[in-house]
Amino acid sequence: MEFYSIRGGNPLSGEVDIAGAKNAALPILAASIMSNETVTVENVPDVSDIRAILSAIENIGAVVQRVDRHTFRINGSRIQDAPVEDEAVKKIRGSYYLIGSLLGKYQHAEVTLPKGCDIGLRPIDQHVKGFRALGAAIRIEHGMIIAETRELAGSHIYLDVVSVGATINIMMAASMAKGLTIIENAAKEPHVVDLANFLNSMGAQIKGAGTDVIRIRGVQRLHATEYSIIPDQIEAGTYMFAAAATHGDVTIRNVIPKHLESLTAKLGEIGCQVEESDDAVRVVANRRLSSTHVKTLPYPGFPTDMQPQITVLLGLSDGTSIVTESIFESRFKYVDELTRMGAQIRVESNTAIIDGVTKYTGASIVAPDLRAGAALVIAALAAEGYSEVSDIRYIERGYEDFPEKLRALGADIRLLDTDDPQLDSRKALHLA
Ligand code: UD1
Repeated sequence: MEFYSIRGGNPLSGEVDIAGAKNAALPILAASIMSNETVTVENVPDVSDIRAILSAIENIGAVVQRVDRHTFRINGSRIQDAPVEDEAVKKIRGSYYLIGSLLGKYQHAEVTLPKGCDIGLRPIDQHVKGFRALGAAIRIEHGMIIAETRELAGSHIYLDVVSVGATINIMMAASMAKGLTIIENAAKEPHVVDLANFLNSMGAQIKGAGTDVIRIRGVQRLHATEYSIIPDQIEAGTYMFAAAATHGDVTIRNVIPKHLESLTAKLGEIGCQVEESDDAVRVVANRRLSSTHVKTLPYPGFPTDMQPQITVLLGLSDGTSIVTESIFESRFKYVDELTRMGAQIRVESNTAIIDGVTKYTGASIVAPDLRAGAALVIAALAAEGYSEVSDIRYIERGYEDFPEKLRALGADIRLLDTDDPQLDSRKALHLA
């Protein structure tokens, strides 16, 4: 089993390039099979969630050609009407995007129910509500969700909760439904807009993505396109907060600064210097940071996917901070691990009350999910002494070259394997 071996204490400094957004790439790759012509997608991050969705579309008959590490050509003209039930795809949340794409194109989809990160109940009732409104019959059998209809017809859908996944799924299916669909109370996340731009580049007629009302006029076919995915705002944010927690100076390149505004604002509030340019942000932290209050909200609010990272940072800031999680109810599981590193955090229901300490100390910790895993790595990088972070398969789901990029910024982090016969000597070398 692989794990990260980390000697904390080095301030991060230098430049890091951000990969394409995982949460945009998942629906875009799922939607790429909606055309019978070849679609080229660039800036695809090389992470395990993406490999899982690529394998799922290949297994149902899509031709997937890898042009280079981050570019794929996909042809969905020979998709068979087979259930999507890969072992790999079961583990990823984004697998449910194949329901929207297959239902839109073939009026029929059978996809294994998704798992994804264990951060609380993750119902899909709003997806189902949307598909039903478009005329599909939905049933769940043997762990599969089955959606089918003779004809999808546009509809007026009001989402009861702001859901990224439901907005995206309905948008995909409605792109090929007959007539006009209006989604109200839609999610406004950058990846919702990116998927709309991608579908429009294939001939879809989607207006209003990025606002809370999206209008989709269905088309009969979607054509070839070449499209480059937006940068990953959460990967960027993770490096911004790693720079701050280690009192570093890091320039994060290939970003859209507008997508990072809620993060930039919080870093400024607690005493970091943040400089923005066209496609980069520089984060400098040269003094002890101060406390603040944060509440996670749908975009443009503070993202729930950055909640563990800011909690780690505030755990080292002066004074008492309060972090309220309003999107997922079980997203503070990592706090126990952080406490073992010396953090003073009390969780009451969906709120963490954080009394800032002056330092964390290294420990053996377990990554409970993707973003909390990355946050615990930040804690280990900032900590005094040696840490081991295990269950890093979660982190690899969403961060391309995580240890390599951190090492290039001066972090002392190594990827080791418990099955390696030379583990003891490698560890001794690292500790020496
Ligand atoms: C996506 C992201 C995830 C991020 C989340 C919120 C992907 C693959 N994952 O997840 O990283 O943390 O957005 O920004 O892009 N809900 C319902 N019914 C539904 C759907 C959602 O009640 O049918 C609730 C959820 O329980 C949650 C809230 O709505 O409380 C938001 O969930 P949603 O935006 O759908 O998150 P995901 O799309 O699952």
